[in-house]
Amino acid sequence: MNFIFGAAGFAKEVDWLIEDLFSVQSIDYRTNKFVAEDGNKLIGTTINSAKVIAESDFLNKYASTENNCFIAVGNPILKEKIVQKIKSVHSKSRFPNLIHPTVSFDRRSSKLILGEGNIICSQSVLTTDIKLFNFVHVNLDCTVGHDSIIGDYTTISPGVHISGNVKISEKVFFGTGAVVLEHVKICAGAKIGAGATVINDINESGTYVGTPARKVK
Ligand SMILES: CC(C)(COP(=O)(O)OP(=O)(O)OC[C@H]1O[C@@H](n2cnc3c(N)ncnc32)[C@H](O)[C@@H]1OP(=O)(O)O)[C@@H](O)C(=O)NCCC(=O)NCCS
Repeated sequence: MNFIFGAAGFAKEVDWLIEDLFSVQSIDYRTNKFVAEDGNKLIGTTINSAKVIAESDFLNKYASTENNCFIAVGNPILKEKIVQKIKSVHSKSRFPNLIHPTVSFDRRSSKLILGEGNIICSQSVLTTDIKLFNFVHVNLDCTVGHDSIIGDYTTISPGVHISGNVKISEKVFFGTGAVVLEHVKICAGAKIGAGATVINDINESGTYVGTPARKVK
């Protein structure tokens, strides 16, 4: 069974990504059910004719089936919580990587190294010698330059440009259109605002906005 976690906009976009993948490849990850947090008002409704079920239902009813799980929630901390819950009770759930067919990357061996659960959306370009750890989202129309490393659960919103040799730690959030200059390092948990330009290393978690990006919180 295939499950998309989340029932908001990004979950619908991941559903679309999976449809696009199926149109060019034989792997069928087409969604059987969406999973929303308990109490979410969308539980019991349908999205693109797939039912939205509660997270507790998923955890109880599908513990012994082989499941492909796609975590379509942007908030890095929530992403981690969902994954930890699934892994604590489901030994047969898997987290395949999703790469939209229009994504451009170096397809030679080990030039793009991926852990599990990564989602790379339409029109993004990742050049060469890049590593994405686990559960990283690269949303629409982003670029990631050579020799860059992106840590677990990081979320990259649409139109973000990451230059070469950038090191991004875990659970970093990038708002739409942010830019990171080459050789910059960004620490765990940093939030980069929409449109920000990061020109220096960020060594302290917090919220950074503007050009050049400065800490506001
Ligand atoms: C950076 C961000 C996360 C901060 O959100 P927040 O914690 O709620 O912070 P606030 O809205 O209280 O803003 C704090 C200050 O930063 C300023 N600020 C917030 N976002 C900013 C941005 N992107 N650029 C410039 N200034 C910004 C606010 O004006 C405010 O300034 P003030 O204290 O002088 O009034 C958010 O504004 C943002 O940019 N989110 C990205 C959303 C996005 O791209 N989503 C992608 C969906 S696919």
